[in-house]
Amino acid sequence: MIRKKPEDLRSYRWFGPDTMRGFSHRSRMMQLGYRKEDFTGRPVIAIVNTWSEINPCHAHLRERAEAVKRGVWHAGGFPVEIPAFSITETYMKPSPMLYRNLLAMDTEETLRSLPIDGAVLMGGCDKTTPGLLMGAISMNLPAIFLPAGPMLRGNWNGKPLGSGTDLWKFWTERCAGNLSDEDWNGVESGIARSPGFCMTMGTAATMTALAEAMGMTLPGGSSIPAADSNHVRLAIDSGKRIVEMVWEDSKPDEILTMAAIRNAITVDMAIGGSTNAIIHLVAMARRRGLDLPLSLFDEIARHVPVLANIRPSGEFLMEDFYYAGGLRALMAEIPDLLHLDCRTVNGKTLGENLDGARVVNHDVIRTREAPLADSGGTAILYGTLAPDGAVIKTVASDPRFRQHTGPAVVFNDYRDLEARINRDDLNVTESSVLVLRNAGPLGGPGMPEWGMLPIPQKLLRQGIRDMVRISDARMSGTSYGTCVLHVSPESYVGGPLALVQDGDAITLDIPNRKLDLLVPENEIERRRSQWIPPIAQSNRGYLALYRERVTQAHQGCDFDFLGPGASPLEPDIF
Ligand code: FES
Repeated sequence: MIRKKPEDLRSYRWFGPDTMRGFSHRSRMMQLGYRKEDFTGRPVIAIVNTWSEINPCHAHLRERAEAVKRGVWHAGGFPVEIPAFSITETYMKPSPMLYRNLLAMDTEETLRSLPIDGAVLMGGCDKTTPGLLMGAISMNLPAIFLPAGPMLRGNWNGKPLGSGTDLWKFWTERCAGNLSDEDWNGVESGIARSPGFCMTMGTAATMTALAEAMGMTLPGGSSIPAADSNHVRLAIDSGKRIVEMVWEDSKPDEILTMAAIRNAITVDMAIGGSTNAIIHLVAMARRRGLDLPLSLFDEIARHVPVLANIRPSGEFLMEDFYYAGGLRALMAEIPDLLHLDCRTVNGKTLGENLDGARVVNHDVIRTREAPLADSGGTAILYGTLAPDGAVIKTVASDPRFRQHTGPAVVFNDYRDLEARINRDDLNVTESSVLVLRNAGPLGGPGMPEWGMLPIPQKLLRQGIRDMVRISDARMSGTSYGTCVLHVSPESYVGGPLALVQDGDAITLDIPNRKLDLLVPENEIERRRSQWIPPIAQSNRGYLALYRERVTQAHQGCDFDFLGPGASPLEPDIF
């Protein structure tokens, strides 16, 4: 293996030359109290930190950055902690997804413009993982992803509570009049009780697991709870390892091969992962110059069993998953379905990293013989209502609705939904199909997680807890129900969803992967000729850029100018 020499380091261009600029760069480091030998000829490691005081999932990342620094110093590198745009799922409106691409640009440009040789990327709350990775993939400097880790189990009256999943469940019961104020307050104060991201198999736990499956995280790292002291050691080890990766010139393009991405999809299915992973994986692959059609998700889903018995599809939580052996143990159950020769950030292959891994609790990580579902965590649907595809998390849907035809009840946007969904005169039954439009990448904007449309209260009172729902929105990974998502093209740009009217028959046929609007073609054309495109409410700043350049869901919702093509330019130093 070729090792870099100190003069080969990217940072040496800033700190090495005996020039006026070199003088300036060195003297300003010395202004910070460092000695020349601290930073010259040593790998400069950016600790890209998405901590903020309004991001509870990343509340511990200031402390973890100190642990990463210990590792970097130990290994002979020079750490610099750099703040990055902090996307907090809970608070950022209208949708944090609107800002994933901004974090990716922030990461890419930070790494590009500064004297950085390698990066430890710190985050975990839903969009942060893909945002950081997309930027690092584009810049293609050595990089390790350090997952923030899930929070500890929630607790209420001795019962474990899961992020999101139990919020939806208890809110439904409250709407149905079954939960007192005291109980509701108990749930509210018990559901999130430590730093870390959502501890159900939501988007955060899914994406950090996929980062590990792709080889971008140290083995076993994605399962460690944020509050566990093993997480501190993971941070130190990540800091130590990234210095070696710089000397070895081990970069994301060697790790993120098509085989590695297939591994990520396989693991996504085996953990019953969030549907959001599809959009993020397509975007990441595209950054790497790889074409990832939606059909590949469906193809892989058909032969991968769901083994992780974690909410919302299953019973347990991420803390249980860690104690049961974690992601390494789960992957060790399906070695024949994985490309074991893929290289990972620790310099070993995935297969080598799985040596010795085993499941210690088969209630939490099921065996191949007794999976949670035989196949198909997720299905991709096509048809007259979704010419470019739609997504459904099969494992979280009610089997009664997997082949269903019913009349549409259409909501033009979320405001309309809020205004009418609980009215007693709404013409809806259990077999109706709820349709929400203008919730896609442009319509939301930012494709908010509105896809788990609420069940109308009058049906809740009848004991109904699931029905078919269709939208161009996304859905939280912690949600559940028969929800068809990511309908593409979205209604805002004139996709067929824009033309559905109340009472139209819609067929959902998951076994045959079909989603059809049963309206004659000539009637569709008549409606299309009368369709008036919506008018954007605001068109300034980042939103204007987003509206102009974002792609549709099946293309990953990335900006069209950040896909394959020209690599980032190394900056001139004059
Ligand atoms: Fe951050 Fe759920 S709110 S992961």
